[in-house]
Amino acid sequence: MKPIRAALVGVGAMNRIVAGLLPEKGVEIVGAVGRSKAGQDLGEVLELGHRLGISVTTDAGAMYASARPDIALVATSSFMTGQYAVLADCARHGVNAITIGEELLHPWHTAPERTRELDALARRHGVTLAGGGFQDFFLVHQLAGMLGTMNRLDRLSGQQTFNVDDYGAEVARDQQVGAGVADFARWRQSDERPPGFGLPILAAIAAASDLTVTGTGFEIRPEVAERATPCRSLGITVGPGDLIGFTTVDTVTTEEGPVLVMELSGRIYQPGETDRFAWTASGDPDVRVVNPGVDTLRTTCTQMVNRIPDVINAAPGFVGPAGLPPLRYRARPFAEYLLERPRLAVN
Ligand SMILES: NC(=O)c1ccc[n+]([C@@H]2O[C@H](COP(=O)([O-])OP(=O)(O)OC[C@H]3O[C@@H](n4cnc5c(N)ncnc54)[C@H](OP(=O)(O)O)[C@@H]3O)[C@@H](O)[C@H]2O)c1
Repeated sequence: MKPIRAALVGVGAMNRIVAGLLPEKGVEIVGAVGRSKAGQDLGEVLELGHRLGISVTTDAGAMYASARPDIALVATSSFMTGQYAVLADCARHGVNAITIGEELLHPWHTAPERTRELDALARRHGVTLAGGGFQDFFLVHQLAGMLGTMNRLDRLSGQQTFNVDDYGAEVARDQQVGAGVADFARWRQSDERPPGFGLPILAAIAAASDLTVTGTGFEIRPEVAERATPCRSLGITVGPGDLIGFTTVDTVTTEEGPVLVMELSGRIYQPGETDRFAWTASGDPDVRVVNPGVDTLRTTCTQMVNRIPDVINAAPGFVGPAGLPPLRYRARPFAEYLLERPRLAVN
């Protein structure tokens, strides 16, 4: 049985972990796309301690045409603005893709037109483009499953934190680390500000629960350094009074009645601070999940990797976790989980 062939798109913190997971699953890395690391050997860029004989390229299209990957594993940026061209390129070259870009988890509400375009492009070329990452099980499938234990849901409410410095520079830039409060206030009001990470999560939970979104709300507040705070990923020290991140509160109302709310704080932690993950569903009966001990970083990457067979097997189009089966543990090489029937493009 031939191994699955994968390309890494983005050669930063997340895909470094992903690259270490793939060999155990019988998945071969056949190409890599980067920006500033272009021309370097992938093994050296990912600090694997050995060369891989794969040169990081900026020309994704040429690499797809020559290396013919079955799937691209995309860990570049968070929002549709940065991801559209990357995913469209995959589709046009007949390459399936899974991305951990936060908006791409369920972008139908924040970027409906672009999502429809990607969906149509994927169908036309007979591939699947998927959103995934940490949210896949821990937020979408776990919480939707929890709601499935209830007789009546009135309100789902979650509080989560993450340490910006567990990730690469992309996340620190997203969270406005180092900005002054006045700059942040301007950015908050401007068209440049992308959607928060919370709405795609709540919309995905709604989709997985057959709830129809009728309205959304959004608040954002700065998290400010009380003392000089180093940011490892940006290589800077944030001065007192400047931003170490921000907190958002997203709200979704639904036609069926339940209200979904998520407070998400992404900031540089102070020593001793740990992740918060607490979700409460009120109704009949009340139910709650508190899960402070999850290795967010590694489970982001394991979930992207473990989705490989599901994405290749899925019908063509754009899909998020709500449209995929629950994740399964898979002990055998992933090629053994591929369905044999040919996938047909829808139009
Ligand atoms: N959903 C989740 O669970 C989850 C969890 C963690 C992270 N994320 C997201 O995943 C993304 C990657 O995170 P990370 O920590 O790995 O970030 P990172 O360390 O900053 O790495 C990002 C990499 O992507 C490259 N890149 C950016 N845009 C590109 C493009 N258009 N074409 C090719 N390469 C491009 C960057 O190149 P340069 O080195 O030249 O900048 C860098 O190598 C972030 O947006 C983050 O928010 C999602």
